[in-house]
Amino acid sequence: MRTAVYPGSFDPVTNGHLDIIERSSRVFDKVIVGVLNNADKSPLFTIDERVEMLRGVTAHIDNVEVDSFTGLLVDFAKMKNASVIVKGLRAVKDFEYEFQMALLNKALNPEYETMFMMTDSKYSYISSSMVKELAGFHGDLTGLVPAEIIHKITQKYKID
Ligand code: PNS
Repeated sequence: MRTAVYPGSFDPVTNGHLDIIERSSRVFDKVIVGVLNNADKSPLFTIDERVEMLRGVTAHIDNVEVDSFTGLLVDFAKMKNASVIVKGLRAVKDFEYEFQMALLNKALNPEYETMFMMTDSKYSYISSSMVKELAGFHGDLTGLVPAEIIHKITQKYKID
């Protein structure tokens, strides 16, 4: 049984993330989406909200599981009996950082392979930060994030 971990902040999950999850679920027996609970960052969504949104938008995929983690990714992968780390690559600008992370994770634990999946070109310009910036200006999020979470994002920017 080949299990992969797909880690990230997912603040919030985008259609680009969902595309990587769907495609990797066809390559691996099981995909565990690991949502980083990072105390240093101040995310828009709490860890519970991010996990819940991801569970909702991946409910149609049988072999996908969503869980949060703190600490090192390689420790989370070990705990989940995963042997592969899946990352999405959008453009050259992602490469340097991802290359460094992959090498560092390999140095931390050589048992794990990082595998990169190229984004679908129609999602190559989407990022969680762009989604948040656009939402802050009350822009249209259609097509950028799963339809069922649009109201959750716009709600965060509502002025009472
Ligand atoms: O969506 P992001 O914010 O680009 O995801 C980054 C993530 C969660 C993949 C990365 O920050 C991570 O793996 N963090 C866990 C801590 C870790 O293992 N760091 C590498 C060694 S210091």
